[in-house]
Amino acid sequence: MNNTFYLTTPIYYVNDKPHIGHAYTTILADVLTRYHKLRGQDVFFLTGLDEHGQKVQQAAAKRGMEPQDHCDDLAPNFTQLWDKLEIKYDDFIRTTEERHKKVVREALQKVHDAGDIYVDEYEGWYSVSEERFITETEKDSGEFRDVKKLKEKNYFFKMSKYQDRLIKHIEDNPAFIQPEHRKNEILGFLRQPLNDLCISRPKERLNWGIELPFDSDYVTYVWFDALLNYTSAPGYLSDEDKFSKWWPASVHLIGKDILTTHCVYWPTMLFSLGVELPKTVFAHGWWLMGESKMSKSLGNVVSPLDLIEEYGVDPVRYYLMREMVLGQDANFTMESFIKRFNSDLANDFGNLLNRLSGLIGKYFDGVVPDPGELTEAEQDLQARATGLDEKIVELIDNFHVNEAIEETLQVVRFINKYMEAQAPWKVAKEDVKAAGRILYAAAETLRICAVHLAPVMPDKCSQVLHVMGCENLHSAWGGLLPGVKLKEHEALFPRLEINE
Ligand code: ME8
Ligand code: MG
Repeated sequence: MNNTFYLTTPIYYVNDKPHIGHAYTTILADVLTRYHKLRGQDVFFLTGLDEHGQKVQQAAAKRGMEPQDHCDDLAPNFTQLWDKLEIKYDDFIRTTEERHKKVVREALQKVHDAGDIYVDEYEGWYSVSEERFITETEKDSGEFRDVKKLKEKNYFFKMSKYQDRLIKHIEDNPAFIQPEHRKNEILGFLRQPLNDLCISRPKERLNWGIELPFDSDYVTYVWFDALLNYTSAPGYLSDEDKFSKWWPASVHLIGKDILTTHCVYWPTMLFSLGVELPKTVFAHGWWLMGESKMSKSLGNVVSPLDLIEEYGVDPVRYYLMREMVLGQDANFTMESFIKRFNSDLANDFGNLLNRLSGLIGKYFDGVVPDPGELTEAEQDLQARATGLDEKIVELIDNFHVNEAIEETLQVVRFINKYMEAQAPWKVAKEDVKAAGRILYAAAETLRICAVHLAPVMPDKCSQVLHVMGCENLHSAWGGLLPGVKLKEHEALFPRLEINE
């Protein structure tokens, strides 16, 4: 069995500070890879920055800086935010690094040698914001900004040659494009004849890019450069063992804004290079503010830094993961943030820890009691706790992250119900042993829930596990050891009081 899991995020344009949208994809990638690690897989998580192209050149010019200085200046905004958000990537690639540029040049030469690149003069509509020529239909859709007519001599990649092969691949591999409605969108797009792809920019118009190995008057189109990051980082054309260990990628995680580049440009490039296609491209929806996409150009972005300073990292991660159904758009509102915080985190999860450590403190001097023989009620609780393993694996394999969280929260809520029904504070007065059994079962179930929530809230869950004296992430029943003294702790998620 192949036990490796290689996941990528888009590499973000380094034209400004990252916003919640960028943070979202990267947190999601972190959460998914942590879930895969939890089940014992060998994981490689790649993220990074897209530093070439017109957008970055313009952003640099606006600041009166050289593009490379501009990139070097802004790159830490990303890495520092990822650190603050507890994102544990394995590699961070910047497309201006030599290790990447070398691969792009060699790949271009390979595609050229294969006869898949030709030169032609082309006149068409060009979207500056998307950095590509668009079709008449796309122009008429009104979805593209900064559109202008452009005529120039350029190099073209014979994308059309691979149209039928791509359609067949998509049809034969239902997991390749997810969710299903995105697959249908791409198949719909492929019903029209596919144009060849313009892959060069004359230096007189744009010089911030990787020079074509076969014509020094041109640089490479930014997407041809950027997409190759997914292979250059794991060693394509440089480290064969490493590359064969990780490739094909398990998942390219993207937003729906960059579906075509990932599901049409990228696979046809790989066909030409003779490299296997990634197993899955998964496109999530957008975070909206009201009706519109949260985006820099609309000026309606929420700063992840402000949010985590005010509410802490884990609640922000939790909200973003719990609130979005993967594949659909979601609305970002402070109201729903505070509601989630108070109901799920403060009331259901945080209070339970307080309650349990309070009762174990009061009746057992803070020492975890021996469960003795479990009755039916505890066996039911145990079955719910241990049943999570299998359920979560399946939900995560299907990208139902919000449901994986909800399954776990349901068990947490069930522990609360069990406590109400069993009332160990009453039982303790007559039968201390029985109270010990109840409290052990409740605490052990909470521990297992914390293990399953750790990918989403690594810091708070490790605090829970620390209190219980078993820091490892084992989800089997019995990890909580009788006789262990619980550690002092503060409230995990103090309720947010809001003044309306
Ligand atoms: O497109 N909601 O970079 P980019 C959810 N460099 N996700 C969002 C979002 C929102 N409102 N806004 C942005 C590029 N994102 C290229 C990619 S890959 C080889 C090259 C996320 O800086 C989402 O993942 O515009 C989206 O696909 C990505 O940021 C676009 O980032
Ligand atoms: Mg964008």
